[in-house]
Amino acid sequence: MTAKNILILAGDGIGPEVMTQVKRIIDWMNGKGLTNFVVSEGLVGGCSYDAHGTPLTDETMQRAMDADAVLLGAVGGPKWDNLDFSLKPERGLLRLRKDMELFANLRPALVFDALAEASSLKLELVKGLDIMIVRELTGGVYFGQPRGIETLPNGERRGINTQVYTTSEIIRVAEVAFDLARKRGSKVHSVEKANVMESGLLWREEVQKLRDAKYQDVHLEHMYADNCAMQLVRTPRQFDVIVTDNLFGDLLSDCAAMLTGSLGMLPSASLGGDLGGGKRRALYEPVHGSAPDIAGQNKANPLACILSYSMMLRYSFGLLKEADLLDQAAQNVLNAGIRTGDIMAAGCTPVGTDGMGDAILAELTKLHG
Ligand code: NAD
Ligand code: IPM
Ligand code: MN
Repeated sequence: MTAKNILILAGDGIGPEVMTQVKRIIDWMNGKGLTNFVVSEGLVGGCSYDAHGTPLTDETMQRAMDADAVLLGAVGGPKWDNLDFSLKPERGLLRLRKDMELFANLRPALVFDALAEASSLKLELVKGLDIMIVRELTGGVYFGQPRGIETLPNGERRGINTQVYTTSEIIRVAEVAFDLARKRGSKVHSVEKANVMESGLLWREEVQKLRDAKYQDVHLEHMYADNCAMQLVRTPRQFDVIVTDNLFGDLLSDCAAMLTGSLGMLPSASLGGDLGGGKRRALYEPVHGSAPDIAGQNKANPLACILSYSMMLRYSFGLLKEADLLDQAAQNVLNAGIRTGDIMAAGCTPVGTDGMGDAILAELTKLHG
């Protein structure tokens, strides 16, 4: 394999803690000749604001554009909550997504057998659960214009955000969902609120047209977002692939996370369009945030970040065997009852963030040599 450039942006709070464990795994895989990754690091979020007065410098943005893949930890925290909106840590992450055109955010919610008891739902409802949420990531109310806060003539203030989708934005993300469904259970739920929003109605019409034209072998159901939230906690196994907009996808993926036992378990891949030659821009990050309540205490579960790295192996570099190896190591460690606090259960062995990293590395060595 020719050398690939990986940019690591660990970010704030628990971001650097969980990323440290990923870096150990990268070193191990490079050392075994399984990968040939050249890693460089940069700042995003609050740490970038502290160093440079902006949550993302143009230079770091350019490095992300040029990298073969980007790995991100998490951004944000109370220290930066009162900054001007344009300087908030989250703006750095949103600019990365927008400028890299990462329109498809894949958020798998997978229940490991060993963790089925850690779910907030009954074991029989979640055992074997395997949902893929495809969240549109560069459009919708997150980016729509007009937006802002304005003062009206009567002195009242008004906050404005706009939900907008164009047909091409809907179609490209729906194609990702249908293509994934073909490799899985051949079922897509398209989620919006076509009953109250025109953008939702357009979403529904375009997804249906696409299915009829190109994906007749895939079963398509339309569902309102509020109902979907309810169905996710009622009978989650009815879902295979869910495709939805930016905001609904944000909410529904946090909800799906709890079905798997913890937000600390959920990885994600954000993929851009085809750049030719099989290349596409991509960023991999856990679904969770910077978890200020446990930051700096060696308590964070690094598995969401580690499994995001596994998605990078799979989706950016086609290193399927290596991704399987890492997924298997994670599964074995969980089967052996090794647990961070968020997924702790009676009779299990408690470990911290670094202890989970140790366990994964030991398991990788056992499986691979
Ligand atoms: P959060 O995901 O940081 O934390 C929610 C809860 O989950 C907390 O109780 C936390 O301790 C727990 N948790 C999260 N990740 C965990 C892990 N790996 N192991 C164990 N427990 C974990 O969400 P929040 O508290 O709403 O947000 C905190 C900050 O993070 C905010 O500034 C927010 O904007 C930011 N945020 C960033 C991202 C990102 O960078 N992608 C995502 C979500 C939130
Ligand atoms: C996520 C986060 C982000 C989002 C924030 C931090 C900008 O919640 O990645 O899920 O809302 O998309
Ligand atoms: Mn979120």
